[in-house]
Amino acid sequence: MAGILCRNIRKKYGEVLVVPDFNLEVTDQEFIVFLGPSGCGKSTMLRMMAGLETITDGELLIDDIVVNDLEPRDRGIAMVFQNYALYPHMTIRGNIGFGLKRLKVPAAEIERRISDVTEVLGLHPYLDRKPTELSGGQQQRVAIARAMIKTPKVFLFDEPLSNLDAKLRATMREEIARLHRKLRTTTIYVTHDQMEAMTLADRIVLMKDGKVEQVGTPEEIYETPRTHFVAGFIGTPAMNFLNLRRDGSALCGDGIDLTLDLSRFNVGKGQNVILGVRPANLQMATSEGPQVLSGTTDLIEYHGDQVLISFDVGSHRIHAFVPARERPKEGVGVKFSLNPAEVHLFDSETGLSLLRV
Ligand SMILES: Nc1ncnc2c1ncn2[C@@H]1O[C@H](COP(=O)(O)OP(=O)(O)OP(=O)(O)O)[C@@H](O)[C@H]1O
Ligand SMILES: [Mg+2]
Repeated sequence: MAGILCRNIRKKYGEVLVVPDFNLEVTDQEFIVFLGPSGCGKSTMLRMMAGLETITDGELLIDDIVVNDLEPRDRGIAMVFQNYALYPHMTIRGNIGFGLKRLKVPAAEIERRISDVTEVLGLHPYLDRKPTELSGGQQQRVAIARAMIKTPKVFLFDEPLSNLDAKLRATMREEIARLHRKLRTTTIYVTHDQMEAMTLADRIVLMKDGKVEQVGTPEEIYETPRTHFVAGFIGTPAMNFLNLRRDGSALCGDGIDLTLDLSRFNVGKGQNVILGVRPANLQMATSEGPQVLSGTTDLIEYHGDQVLISFDVGSHRIHAFVPARERPKEGVGVKFSLNPAEVHLFDSETGLSLLRV
């Protein structure tokens, strides 16, 4: 097992700078998730760690050793991809053991290790089948077994579950979590599924344009997003945002005039801010007030226990969750109050959180 250190890593494809400066320290046994929008450089970072892409600049250390110039097979890593292409003509046993066979590991040793990993992953019953005779989830488990059997120091996963249907994805997510609890192998897991990130990660690395936007536990990222971007990226549906300006003790703009206790924030007079509040943190209110947003319900989405209401306040579209039993009809006036303890404030220009530290 091993720690990983990324020191000022840069990646250029020709003249295109994809990763300008990436820094991260991963502790031994940690489960790290790289999360971020499409094209932000998650796979590129992972492939540089695996040795499948060159590192333009900077240093990558695994287990305190600079591995920039080491071949993939000498880095002690194993990688599982989204397209896990098993060899169709080989049995499951053959697929899992293939890598070791190529390394000329003695047959008895291969058999012992196949037995160990298939035990952990519940693949025993399928060893003599061909890949096409397995379900998608079982095939994905074979791909994981194939990586595990190398007993790597580091596991690298690149969206390993994105080809599976939602239910299977949830099941496999649990299996991967259980596997990590058991093996404790340092893991970097790439996804753009925030539910996967929130449930699997010890720490999430939220990336944007090849840079680390925030690193933290799922709770830290969700509860104290460092930037407007992070706040908008995490949470479904997304956090509501209002563009406002501090005027005396009020926050005003576009037909909104809120008076909130702002003592948690560093906000200057006349400063332009973005106020954020999650749909689950808006409370239905019965009367107008200095902390209340009102509008006319537009769409009402049924989510089961709750409904998601949308309404406009000036040019702002607001979403709020309401218990299904209390749901209003479409086209009626509604009021929602803000709890000052549950709002976020960001500087309009820099996007940085204004929370006092
Ligand atoms: N071989 C390449 N040559 C040139 N540009 C590339 C190459 N591979 C990736 N890129 C660019 O690098 C950027 C990062 O790509 P990367 O595949 O790392 O994104 P990602 O975060 O994994 O996205 P996704 O979530 O869509 O998989 C993208 O803008 C992409 O177009
Ligand atoms: Mg990718």
